[in-house]
Amino acid sequence: MRKYFIAGNWKMNPLSDPLPLLRELKVKLVGMNNIDLVVAPPFTALHQASELLRETPIIISAQHLFWEEKGAFTGEISASMLKVAGADYVIIGHSERRQYFSETDHSVNLRLKTALNNGLTPILCLGETEDERERGITFEVIERQFKGALSGCGESDLPGFIIAYEPVWAIGTGKTAQPADAQEVHEFLRRLLRDHYSSALADTTRIIYGGSVKPDNAAGLFKQVDIDGALVGGASLSAESFAQIAKASMELV
Ligand code: 13P
Repeated sequence: MRKYFIAGNWKMNPLSDPLPLLRELKVKLVGMNNIDLVVAPPFTALHQASELLRETPIIISAQHLFWEEKGAFTGEISASMLKVAGADYVIIGHSERRQYFSETDHSVNLRLKTALNNGLTPILCLGETEDERERGITFEVIERQFKGALSGCGESDLPGFIIAYEPVWAIGTGKTAQPADAQEVHEFLRRLLRDHYSSALADTTRIIYGGSVKPDNAAGLFKQVDIDGALVGGASLSAESFAQIAKASMELV
């Protein structure tokens, strides 16, 4: 059975001091050892988070990286810098990066390979927009993003990597996908893993859902056979609601 993977993407929040939230998470998530717990704070809080959560099973993720190792790239951050700051995972291809920062399937691919080559585990985000769903091209879009992101990656590169299905229309809108609709896309992604790689990779890769996951809708999503956890945005900024979401998965283990 795949272990549930519950990650909190803080995005560009909170604005000032991350310590109270980190301290509260440390207390509220204690003992949740049957699942993988991840927090992705902004760059400026990575080091504090990794120090504070050092003795806990909570893993640190960054939200972004650049593919060059060093040089004149003002404002960018490399994989090795993230590792020094304490990150083990990195979110790649989030729709907000695609939407606001001109991220393409090609640049997602470069970032993903850079993460893999530097020992950072990618959390690869993909998902269709509302317009694409209405036009009936969801699967086409997912397949294009999947192939683009993983181009040139061999199976031996990928054990442990995470796929996050995040329908763009569900992010920050309160409009969660219905569990059965999300399950359909997760099943499709697992089929892509099987067809392009192997049954072994398809059976072991965690495919998590993101988009308005809250304590009251988490269990319904986690009960779906191909949904292995969540990438939580807004609700991860409250230790209480993040812990409740994590608990919803614990109860299914
Ligand atoms: P919300 O949970 O705020 O909808 O955000 C989801 C998300 O984008 C996680 O990466």
